Amino acid sequence: MTISDADFHRLASFVQQNYGINLTQKRQLITGRLSTPVKQLGYASFSDFINHLLKTKDEKEMSLLLNKLTTNYTFFMREKEHLDHFRTHIIPEIVQRHQRDKTLAIWSAGCSSGEEPYNITMYLFDYLGSQASQWDTQLLATDISEQAMATAQRGIYELPDTIPPEWKKKYFIHEQGSNYRVTPAVRNNVIFRPFNLMDPIRFRRKFDVIFCRNVMIYFDQPTKDALVRRFYDATVPGGYLLISYSENLSQNSPYRRITTATFQK
Ligand SMILES: C[S@@+](CC[C@H](N)C(=O)[O-])C[C@H]1O[C@@H](n2cnc3c(N)ncnc32)[C@H](O)[C@@H]1O
Repeated sequence: MTISDADFHRLASFVQQNYGINLTQKRQLITGRLSTPVKQLGYASFSDFINHLLKTKDEKEMSLLLNKLTTNYTFFMREKEHLDHFRTHIIPEIVQRHQRDKTLAIWSAGCSSGEEPYNITMYLFDYLGSQASQWDTQLLATDISEQAMATAQRGIYELPDTIPPEWKKKYFIHEQGSNYRVTPAVRNNVIFRPFNLMDPIRFRRKFDVIFCRNVMIYFDQPTKDALVRRFYDATVPGGYLLISYSENLSQNSPYRRITTATFQK
């Protein structure tokens, strides 16, 4: 199926305005990922599909669009040095700060299929050791891809070799073949919610740490800057924003840079 210039621009600007994702250089990705499902829905052309989508904002079609157009690539132990820095510098600091209420507030924003929030959980459990049961470490994990979140809720993965063998034993249960399921304790430490990062952030608590890694790379600069300001308002004083090694914040970001990909309010 081919897409006309006009339809490509209509769809790209709709996605950018509503979800932040910049598709202006992604014409092939759109036709490649959407042609078959659009045909399967019974549309003869992209024009018909886009007309219907923009007019009705049909939930099923919107969900298909997001499932197909988001890039959900993620894996356990991604940027391990960054996670290790979180363990050696940030966890001890926030644990110290919360000695009284024993409650940590952490958000994995753009959690995809769940590897990141489960991995953060393992780092927390490992640090707290036998004290873990006395703490509320439950973290929030959000995304706009329903498909990715369904995988996250299932919690079954093929594990990479980079997972420490003792973590494989402690935090996973062997299922079938090469599949492992996260243990109930790890699973229950993560609350998954659909959330569009273009929306106002109105969660009950402010966060000690916000992870938003490999998400803003798909946004243009003004969208990214506005989101970073909303993150800042949703961070406790002294709290952190962690992005990925391949990203940076603009010079005028309100956060203070601590080290690569690590920023503090
Ligand atoms: C490449 S994954 C990153 C996963 C994980 N944070 C990591 O670093 O491995 C990017 C995720 O951002 C999500 N995403 C993109 N735009 C979003 C938006 N507007 N609101 C919420 N999530 C979004 C995508 O659905 C995708 O799952």
